[in-house]
Amino acid sequence: MSAGRAPARRAGTHARRLLAVLTAVVAIVGVLPGAAHARETRESVVGGTRAAQGEFPFMVRLSMGCGGALYSSRLVLTAAHCVGSTGTNTSITATLGVVDLQSSSRITVRSNYVYRAPGYNGNGKDWALIRLASPVTGLAALPIATTTAYNSGTFTVAGWGAAREGGAQQRYLLKATVPFVPDSTCDNSYPDLIPGEEICAGYASGGTDTCQGDSGGPMFRRDASNAWIQVGIVSWGNGCARPNYPGVYTEVSTFASAIASAAASLGG
Ligand code: ARG
Repeated sequence: MSAGRAPARRAGTHARRLLAVLTAVVAIVGVLPGAAHARETRESVVGGTRAAQGEFPFMVRLSMGCGGALYSSRLVLTAAHCVGSTGTNTSITATLGVVDLQSSSRITVRSNYVYRAPGYNGNGKDWALIRLASPVTGLAALPIATTTAYNSGTFTVAGWGAAREGGAQQRYLLKATVPFVPDSTCDNSYPDLIPGEEICAGYASGGTDTCQGDSGGPMFRRDASNAWIQVGIVSWGNGCARPNYPGVYTEVSTFASAIASAAASLGG
């Protein structure tokens, strides 16, 4: 822009005015698509971008307004706070296989049973399994971390939840990456944190986070073989993407054996 202004100084009044107008138009045209682009691709999950079709085949949208991850062809791992008590439950519809929830190629399946973490009382233990009425085929499940080995590094989160605090649910699946936050840092923000059951992730500066409606969805990373592995379940936070308030996720490794036995009891 300064390069465009220098020659204008040598031009006559009319030419200068014309150049000023043209410069302004170029500036506006140059800035607007950038702003539109930012709005479209950065405000998602909160601070995320759109996931590609097939990128996260294990992602599940649940009709009560939560996320989940395919644990096996018939089981969806989600958050306890997304479901009611353990027992027969045919009221939940799972939507799978698409990033666009309106896509005509979406798969929808009803639940037939809910298993909520034993002892869940709203504090920690925020996991549950939903059994689907029929198995889904052609969608890879997301293995869960069975040790603490992957409770560090950079995590991916995804969901159809709000793209900003107080915002609307999304039609298209959004994704973002967030860094691990040690318990010793996280409990400065959240004295209620249960370090053995919860794992935090987010930037100290905020800006990127899961948000309302992402609950129950997975937080995952690459394992030693470069495969996706689930380390967390979206659970809670103070608002969304606020500086110094990371997202809090269920620490999957802590519950891995309980999840595996529950899954076995549900028929796998
Ligand atoms: N509890 C929220 C839900 O039901 C998820 C909140 C996650 N918040 C956060 N700041 N990471 O969807």
